[in-house]
Amino acid sequence: MNQPAALDFIHCFVPGHSKRTLLLLHGTGGDESNLVSLGRTLDAEASLLSPRGKVLENGMPRFFRRLAEGVFDEEDLIHRTHELADFVQEAAAHYHFDPKNVIAVGYSNGANIAGGILLLRPDVLCGAALLRPMVPLIPKALADLRNTPVLVCSGNQDPIVSSENADELVALLRRAGANVTVSLENAGHALTDATVETTLRWLLEEGK
Ligand code: MLT
Repeated sequence: MNQPAALDFIHCFVPGHSKRTLLLLHGTGGDESNLVSLGRTLDAEASLLSPRGKVLENGMPRFFRRLAEGVFDEEDLIHRTHELADFVQEAAAHYHFDPKNVIAVGYSNGANIAGGILLLRPDVLCGAALLRPMVPLIPKALADLRNTPVLVCSGNQDPIVSSENADELVALLRRAGANVTVSLENAGHALTDATVETTLRWLLEEGK
């Protein structure tokens, strides 16, 4: 079957047995296979959609360009956010999953583009677990994220994301009305068992 244009992300789709789909978004240097086993650990029943970021930084896939660590190319970020949001909607039609029941689970750069989708294309996600995220951009107009559950998992020793930046993201999401759960771990930028446990619990309790 010919794939529609927006499905041109390299991706992995694993069908599930529930109405939920987890959109798995890897960090810099990851790919579409990276988070699939984490996704299955987090939700044994959900469908899993895992695209590979299209931008290459020294050969490492990312979801949008950056000018330096933590300094984003905003024009590219906006463009890539819409491109990824379109992909999710096309994938829902193609794989027959419910477009109203997609929860992003993003790590690092993947968390940042998930934040971009929440802020620019809020209808595409019904929730998001943002693992080690930072503020992706300050939108011109605030999205309406009322009733949208968002988990923000940060590390208090993260050398990439300052606690001020993580706090600013939480404040921004709350101003937009999101129901934000904050988890501050005694950890750095890497994911820990505690991050996985917190996300699993949040998905069970909040992300229904
Ligand atoms: C980003 O570029 O999105 C953040 O700095 C996180 C990272 O990918 O290192």
